Amino acid sequence: MSQPTIESILQEKRLFPPPTEFAQKAHIKSIEEYKQLYEKAKADPEAFWAELAETELDWFQKWDKVLDWQPPFVKWFVNGKINISYNCLDRHLTTWRRNKAALIWEGEPGDSRTLTYAQLHREVCQMANVFKQLGVKKGDRVGIYMPMIPEAAIAMLACARIGAPHTVVFGGFSAEALKDRLVDAEAKLVVTADGGWRKDAIVPLKEQVDKALVAGAPTVENVLVVKRTAQQIHMEPGRDHWWHDVQKGASGECPAEPMDSEDMLFILYTSGTTGKPKGVVHTTGGYNLYTHVTNKWAFDLQDTDVYWCTADVGWITGHSYIVYGPLSNGATSLMYEGAPRASNPGCLWDVVEKYGVTIFYTAPTAIRALMKMGEHHPNSRNLSSLRLLGTVGEPINPEAWIWYNRVIGGDRCPIVDTWWQTETGGFMITPLPGATSTKPGSATLPFPGIIADIVNQEGESVDGNNGGYLVIKHPWPGMMRTVYGDDDRFRRTYWEYLRPKSGEYIYFAGDGAHKDDDGYFWVMGRVDDVINVAGHRLGTMEVESALVSHPAVAEAAVVGKPDEVKGEDIVAFVTLEGDREPNEDLEKELKQHVVQEIGAIARPGDIRFTEDLPKTRSGKIMRRLLRSLAAGQEIAGDTSTLQDRSVLDKLRGGA
Ligand code: PRX
Repeated sequence: MSQPTIESILQEKRLFPPPTEFAQKAHIKSIEEYKQLYEKAKADPEAFWAELAETELDWFQKWDKVLDWQPPFVKWFVNGKINISYNCLDRHLTTWRRNKAALIWEGEPGDSRTLTYAQLHREVCQMANVFKQLGVKKGDRVGIYMPMIPEAAIAMLACARIGAPHTVVFGGFSAEALKDRLVDAEAKLVVTADGGWRKDAIVPLKEQVDKALVAGAPTVENVLVVKRTAQQIHMEPGRDHWWHDVQKGASGECPAEPMDSEDMLFILYTSGTTGKPKGVVHTTGGYNLYTHVTNKWAFDLQDTDVYWCTADVGWITGHSYIVYGPLSNGATSLMYEGAPRASNPGCLWDVVEKYGVTIFYTAPTAIRALMKMGEHHPNSRNLSSLRLLGTVGEPINPEAWIWYNRVIGGDRCPIVDTWWQTETGGFMITPLPGATSTKPGSATLPFPGIIADIVNQEGESVDGNNGGYLVIKHPWPGMMRTVYGDDDRFRRTYWEYLRPKSGEYIYFAGDGAHKDDDGYFWVMGRVDDVINVAGHRLGTMEVESALVSHPAVAEAAVVGKPDEVKGEDIVAFVTLEGDREPNEDLEKELKQHVVQEIGAIARPGDIRFTEDLPKTRSGKIMRRLLRSLAAGQEIAGDTSTLQDRSVLDKLRGGA
């Protein structure tokens, strides 16, 4: 039988229904069942979430009140006492899962480790006891800057166990970016490793920590270092401690601290529309419940699954869907240190084959990169264990969806395209694989309990077909509670940008979307000054601040331009200080400067020197015009507010 073409699939608006056999065994088995859950949750959200909190989680003390909503501030399960580390570990130890694999880890050089629930519990307790010995108390913040090794998850769970909120900083961030986050969170301890393996090279993490601490993070008293890559590193006496040394004397028992449901679990920094990343705060009970239930239903997690999310623990996807969601469910979660690389472009498929992975979750940018590498890599491995695929991070283009479905999924695995954000804690719009028919490119329908809508600039609902702002209208348990140390920024950014006449508070996600006649949501991308480069979220202002901090740069304006693999790439328009001349060396230097200030993920693909930037009469940079220029498109729309039209002509001329 010949393959249907992409055009025919899209033209026919072909639906991909859940395979019957899959649906029969799934937690949620039909669209009718989904609709019932959705309506039940809509009619009485508190009863819906309370029932799940009772049946799915273990509490030390039950809550007095399910929801306390003082817009835009929310509390879930008020006065309930719970510990997420207990829910992820201890409660499985009294069941048959005690000796089930909790984490399967594969290192890039091919070394591997499996930790059962009992083993993981023991190591988490040991690390929690070491934290205590190092003076970390409930409420103190701990920075985690780690490669993808089991100790990253162990450190997170150890923090949660003693009630010390963690702030995980992605290992690809530079020393400068790490320092900013440690300072903002006032971290007392940093957990790191000598290095990690990435594309056959060592990422020197400890060296970056040393630099960050020299640059100034005065609250950091101790550094705990895991030996991974074994190259020579500096160990500061009195401050730096090898994990393998201190682990020896540490007890493998450490009772989980009863936490208030609203105690802070972690801070995770994410980019916004200003130069300063926001510390997104998540708390304990609601987050535990939300990641647990979304993971269970949207990935149809079963006890026999080998579940693999390829994200890094430094992002929300790693927090919610490598560590907390799967372990709370008693699932087997696979962690992989490496990435496809010249020496083994097919390494992901080796891992699928080696462990019989059943659920595979990755980003569209990775899928597109894998497509480019060629089908022979997946085709030469046995991928028949796979039963479900997922994507996250950006809209998936139908070509990549169809390829993923055919080449990786063998036309038998449902694909869950999960739309959500650091701020939402867990999936918001996603298919439930045994229930929802999918359409390539659509995240489909809201999760039960999520009231999603499309509104105009006035915050009023619009006919979704025409598109608008994607908003959420009722609080949900996994939502962020505030921006760390800045309630006002939280209110302004997410809740006051769009205010309907009714005065109702609605959550604005920053994305544009439209809704089709079946009620399916199609997320179109960010409508603010945030760009999405290879699934990594970056604020244009953040990159601009980095550029302007270079002495040669007078002004910078950063925009995204469409990129075949990365989704978007960074283009920076730069004006120089009077005495500086543009040249290739300076271009390289500026790119490197951004890498130093933020990290390799923020390296501009293109720097365009210009004498002036297009501005309105009030001095605002007209990014819309720059976006069109960067994309090589005709400038459409109104340019009458432009202060000096000749700037545009010069830019067009490639000046
Ligand atoms: O623009 C949306 C895009 O990623 C943004 C959130 O980024 P971050 O907080 O880093 O979290 C990424 C992982 C959850 C969103 O505002 N995004 C995420 N998932 C999708 C998506 N866009 C379209 N479809 C998705 N499935």
